[in-house]
Amino acid sequence: MGSLRAYGLRSDHRTTPLGVDGAPLLSWRLAGEDPVGCVVEVDGLWSSGRLEDPAAIQVRYAGPPLRARTRYEWAVTLWAADGTSSTTRSWFESGADRWTAGWIAADPDAVEYVDPPTEGDLALRDHGLLPCPQLRRAFQARPAVAAARLYISAKGLYEARLNGHRAGDAQLAPGWTDYSRRIPYQTYDVTDLLADGENVLAVTLADGWWSGFVGFDPRRPGSHYGRFPELIAELHLDYVDGSTQVVVTDGAWRTERGHVRYADLLKGECHDERAATPGWELPGFDDSSWQPAVVTGHDHAPLVPSPDEPVRAVRELAPLSVTRTGPLTHLVDFGQNLAGRVRVAVPESAPGTRVTIRHAETLDAEGGLDVANLRTADATDVLISAGQAVVFEPAFTYHGFRYAEMTGIEDLGEVQAVVLHSDTPQAGTFECSDPEINQLQRNIEWGQRGNFVSVPTDCPQRDERLGWLADAQVFLPTACFNADVAAFFAKWLRDVRDAQRPEGGFPNVAPRISGVADEGAPGWADAGVLIPWHLYRVYGDERFLDVDSMAGWVEFVRRHNPDLIWRAKTGPHFADWLAPGAATPRDLLATAFFHRSADLTARAALVTGRTADAERLRALADDIRTAFIKTFALAPGRLAGDTQTGYLLALAFGLLPGEWEEPAARRLAELVEEHGPQTGFLGVNLLCPVLSAHGRADLAHALLRRTDPPSWLYQVRHGATTIWERWDGAGAPSMNSFNHYAFGSIGEWLYGGVAGIAQAPDSVAFRELVIRPQPGDLVWARATYESARGRVAVSWQRAEGDFRLSVTVPPGATATIHLPDGQTHRVLSGDHTFRTTEET
Ligand code: BGC
Repeated sequence: MGSLRAYGLRSDHRTTPLGVDGAPLLSWRLAGEDPVGCVVEVDGLWSSGRLEDPAAIQVRYAGPPLRARTRYEWAVTLWAADGTSSTTRSWFESGADRWTAGWIAADPDAVEYVDPPTEGDLALRDHGLLPCPQLRRAFQARPAVAAARLYISAKGLYEARLNGHRAGDAQLAPGWTDYSRRIPYQTYDVTDLLADGENVLAVTLADGWWSGFVGFDPRRPGSHYGRFPELIAELHLDYVDGSTQVVVTDGAWRTERGHVRYADLLKGECHDERAATPGWELPGFDDSSWQPAVVTGHDHAPLVPSPDEPVRAVRELAPLSVTRTGPLTHLVDFGQNLAGRVRVAVPESAPGTRVTIRHAETLDAEGGLDVANLRTADATDVLISAGQAVVFEPAFTYHGFRYAEMTGIEDLGEVQAVVLHSDTPQAGTFECSDPEINQLQRNIEWGQRGNFVSVPTDCPQRDERLGWLADAQVFLPTACFNADVAAFFAKWLRDVRDAQRPEGGFPNVAPRISGVADEGAPGWADAGVLIPWHLYRVYGDERFLDVDSMAGWVEFVRRHNPDLIWRAKTGPHFADWLAPGAATPRDLLATAFFHRSADLTARAALVTGRTADAERLRALADDIRTAFIKTFALAPGRLAGDTQTGYLLALAFGLLPGEWEEPAARRLAELVEEHGPQTGFLGVNLLCPVLSAHGRADLAHALLRRTDPPSWLYQVRHGATTIWERWDGAGAPSMNSFNHYAFGSIGEWLYGGVAGIAQAPDSVAFRELVIRPQPGDLVWARATYESARGRVAVSWQRAEGDFRLSVTVPPGATATIHLPDGQTHRVLSGDHTFRTTEET
């Protein structure tokens, strides 16, 4: 079992974050034997005292208020039964409390447009895109700096350098929020980048989500939050002698338009190397011809320390193949649909030579790029050469693509795809004896990478890339197995709550954006309740449960639907979006979600000690259930509409009288046997879990291994490397993304059903596991999962009529093991093996 220790220490769900806000949640994972006690200590400042729960895995800091901009060391000590102890240390830094810096910008009205390089190309004038401003500030530093921190954000995107070296490795920072409500800032430790004497802080700004193109509304395609980018930054130098020097953004900064002629998330990016200003990021550069920056304001209210890991360039892919398709044109296949951009070495060439990179997810019948599904996203990057060899990689855009077409280079040299996503640590692995299912799992993981880009998006390629709430709620359980998404979703939940109306209504997308109906639809808006509840159960952090926000939503629906059948205020009612079969009655579907939201909010109220609210909401949930049964349960085993999603929602959400469940599950199974899967986004995540919970794991497996459309393996057989928006990948080009993760929500069942890792219904943070492998006719499967408590692992295999299972249960947890022959065992933490003979 090994000796007891804590590992994976986190402060507010992040490893050693710079810039925590308020009183952080300090958490750790357990390895080895069960602890009998533990204590957390913060820097001699505060001790948790011996925690009542010996197997605790988190505690909220409750000491004196933290000073701003300070590093706090903390430690967790665990005691084992034999009296030995083990201490593990970590640290966090608090954020900047008071800002003095101003917001600064390059005067947008002083921009000289350069002509679009050639006619018919991306014309920046047509798009109204401005060249990216460069801003610089030279300052003197004395020797003996003990620590230097850069606090920085932008309305738009920024890339900052100190003396030519990149500050931090965040991409597309500060990320996307509703900037009118909240603007995250990043903190970088730049101590090692400082020099004695003259230093230069140099920042390039781009439009990003702030003033660039976002979404698909032709009346408002861009400039959703502002018109031009702005910067705010404070560089704090703490000297060894105790003195401090602060360099802030103000009117002393100098600015000029640089060689990035435009940069846009949807349109792409253009570098004109002829307009480069070499050395501008370094000391000694003469900026006397540059303009002074304009101070646009001092509103610091929306600034908050960034609560999640930034988008990073997480990996690089070499091409699978490069094909010359013309004298100056190459088609590059990266072998993987992804979100990111291309980096290419451009050789010496005549000044003015243009290199153009276009991106697409698929090829058309002639073998060229198929860009029809990008809609108005041009996804085209351009380099205009100044003559010298240069490595070109855009900095302020990203595209969803597998293929890139490069024009303008005769002999293509080094080229890579740079994969970008919010840097959520890997948490799980799943593998089994069927290579096609393993490919499906990889596709799900790539779908998650490609769509966790600051916010959980629907897709990374077309002019959408929005934080659609239903997509996120159906995929969340799968996402939690694949990666540690606690901090990522903590951030996005703030976006969701920022978009909640004072009357209680949740939106369809967060961050809120013009052009998308913000009256939330059933199953979309309910994510404002479903997501916090699931995060609480997975990570154990009660702060996810904002009961006022959740109850506000439930009350809103109730107020407008006094008979408790949700018909009014359904927003654009997307129903069971993209379901291939008969439509589930819209009021049935809506009312099922209304019940689910009331039920989960009642539970959240109970957890947070709001007993009276819990009782009121429980009564409401019961009344909705009664109304649901009265209205939609036509007879035992028969629901209005008779659709798969109808039965799935009713069974998964506990809406039916007990004795009606089995007939309903039988009817569901009949429909599945007859048609294959017929669910859209709102039923797909429930399909296999509900079938196997009702004794039809065989049918769930048949669905999983089915290869005719609609099916998961149909996509795999047709070369998918991500999850498609539609089951069959055949829709009008405007709605046919090849990287939409909703149908990838089967991933939860791969971990939870096939491998068999799940939590007991009332368990939180994996305190009580249910290990119930569903082998189907697979030969083996294994999964690992870094839970909030520690490592869970399941591995099973069949050999010569034997079924062998190995299970690792983390310290402080218990598990009920269900073997395929019906035996059950209750076990404590540690490693366990089981062997049974299979029934024939
Ligand atoms: C998005 C979806 C989203 C939907 C709403 C689409 O355009 O791509 O994933 O949930 O709209 O129905």
